[in-house]
Amino acid sequence: QTYPQLPDSCLVVLIGASGAGKSTLASTWPVSQVLSLDALRGAVSDDCGLQEATSDAVDVLHLLLECRMARRKFTVVDATNVTKSAREPLVAAAKRHNMPVIAVMVATPASVCVERQDPRPANRTVPADTVRAQHKAMVHSHPTLLAEGFNEVLFADSLYRLEPYLEQISN
Ligand code: CTP
Ligand code: MG
Repeated sequence: QTYPQLPDSCLVVLIGASGAGKSTLASTWPVSQVLSLDALRGAVSDDCGLQEATSDAVDVLHLLLECRMARRKFTVVDATNVTKSAREPLVAAAKRHNMPVIAVMVATPASVCVERQDPRPANRTVPADTVRAQHKAMVHSHPTLLAEGFNEVLFADSLYRLEPYLEQISN
C-alpha cells in the first residue's frame, strides 16, 4: 500500500478543483483502482472534455463503483467532487457495503489551479471563474464531510504525503 494510513479496503474520494492535481495523485494507484470521470467521459463519447457527456459518465462511474464496493475493492474516485450532491451517492455506495469512505482533499491554491489550465489542450481547459468556484466549494465543503458520512478526512499536500487533517492544522 502506497499510503499506509489508508485501509487496504476502502473508498477514497478525491476532492479538489480542476488543476489541483487529483489525477496526478490518482496515477500513484493501479489504473484499475481509479474511477476517473474524465476517462469515463472519454469512454462514452471519445472526448474526455465533453461536458455534455458528464451525466452518462457519472451513471457509468456509479455502476462501476457499486460493482467494486460489492467486491470490497480499494477504489479511488477521481473527479472534482466539490458538491455534496456529487459526493452523496459515492458515500452511499460505500455504506451499502460497509466499506470505509475517506475524503482526500487536494487543496492546491486557486491561483495555481488556474495557472495550470494554460498548457492544457482546448477541450480540457476549465475557465478561471469555474476553477475559482470549484475551489471555493471545496473549501466550504470541508467542515461538513464527517457529517456526510466520511469516516476520515485527509489532505494531500504538495508532496502527496497524506497527513491526518488534525496534524496538518496543528502545525
Ligand atoms: N501538477 C504539478 N505538480 C503537482 C501536481 C500536478 O505540476 N504536484 C500539474 C500536472 O502535471 C498537470 C496539472 O498540474 O499538468 C494539473 O494536474 P492534474 O492532476 O491533471 O489535475 P486534476 O485535479 O486532475 O484536474 P482536473 O480536475 O481538471 O482533471
Ligand atoms: Mg484530472
